[in-house]
Amino acid sequence: MDPSPEPKMTEATFTLGGEVTIPRMGFGAMRLTGDGVWHWPKDRETAKGVLRSALDHGIRLIDTADAYGPETNEYLIAEVLKDHRPDGVIVATKGGLVRGGPSDWRRDGRPDHLKRAVKNSLRRLEVERIDLYQLHAIDPEVPLEDSLGAIRELQDEGLIRFVGVSNFGIVELKRARQIVDVISVQNRYNLGDRNQEPVLEVCQREGIAFIPWYPLAVGELADEPVLQEIAADKGATPLQIALSWLLHRSSVMLPIPGTSSADHLAENWAARKIELTSDDLQKLDTICPVTPAR
Ligand SMILES: NC(=O)c1ccc[n+]([C@@H]2O[C@H](COP(=O)([O-])OP(=O)(O)OC[C@H]3O[C@@H](n4cnc5c(N)ncnc54)[C@H](OP(=O)(O)O)[C@@H]3O)[C@@H](O)[C@H]2O)c1
Repeated sequence: MDPSPEPKMTEATFTLGGEVTIPRMGFGAMRLTGDGVWHWPKDRETAKGVLRSALDHGIRLIDTADAYGPETNEYLIAEVLKDHRPDGVIVATKGGLVRGGPSDWRRDGRPDHLKRAVKNSLRRLEVERIDLYQLHAIDPEVPLEDSLGAIRELQDEGLIRFVGVSNFGIVELKRARQIVDVISVQNRYNLGDRNQEPVLEVCQREGIAFIPWYPLAVGELADEPVLQEIAADKGATPLQIALSWLLHRSSVMLPIPGTSSADHLAENWAARKIELTSDDLQKLDTICPVTPAR
């Protein structure tokens, strides 16, 4: 136990796939699309403005999926990047889920579906190669070797730069890495939900980016008393402390908080500068007991 009040510094950047160095704060674009993540946003120009301000702040990782909208999220991102694409931007999209309605998400990991999905994402994003393609989730009806084998083929054809996986456990991650070079894992993880700690530990050991989705528990973490106390002490908001904790938790952590508000985006970006002490980290560790490795 180290009761030192010395602030802990965090790494400012992470190098994806050993090749592209980006700041360790991305943007989850899912919430740019309309309420219920369905169709177009109510105000398309405002949504595009939020994305533009993410790029202006210096965010270089934009997370999307063909299922957000569906399709409209990728179209919106392409509209913004067409006018202004800063060097080093990584658009991370996903495939493997299909939507039948606002709350209807179905898995489809068949190779034919994924090959079509990649080609459609390329068309919507208006690019010749997808920066980071993530298998959104494992389809229980399809061996993951077949799903990832199809993605690997497209990578070999030059249509995908990096491959990532999402909603994978440690056993599935090990199988995936026998098929393709997995450079990122996107799983649900935040200060109040640390079930994916074993996967994070594998990622940390192997230098794989860990992209926590739901990093703010959609804002619910703001009610957590320990966070409120530390935030008041530092003149920050509880959600900024929740993001700062993620950055302190591991050097492979790449949070992608989602927001439809330029003000919230600015707050989230500013959380990179908050330093937590060992005391702060010990207090924050009490919020959620860690699940032992499987
Ligand atoms: N791989 C997967 O299966 C999966 C699943 C879900 C999500 N994702 C990805 O992960 C990203 C993040 O997850 P998420 O959007 O579900 O959850 P989240 O980032 O934990 O929370 C987003 C919510 O928090 C609010 N919020 C954000 N910043 C705030 C701030 N500074 N102050 C107050 N409220 C704030 C937003 O509302 P406002 O709009 O009002 O700011 C929004 O409702 C998504 O955008 C998506 O790209 C992936």
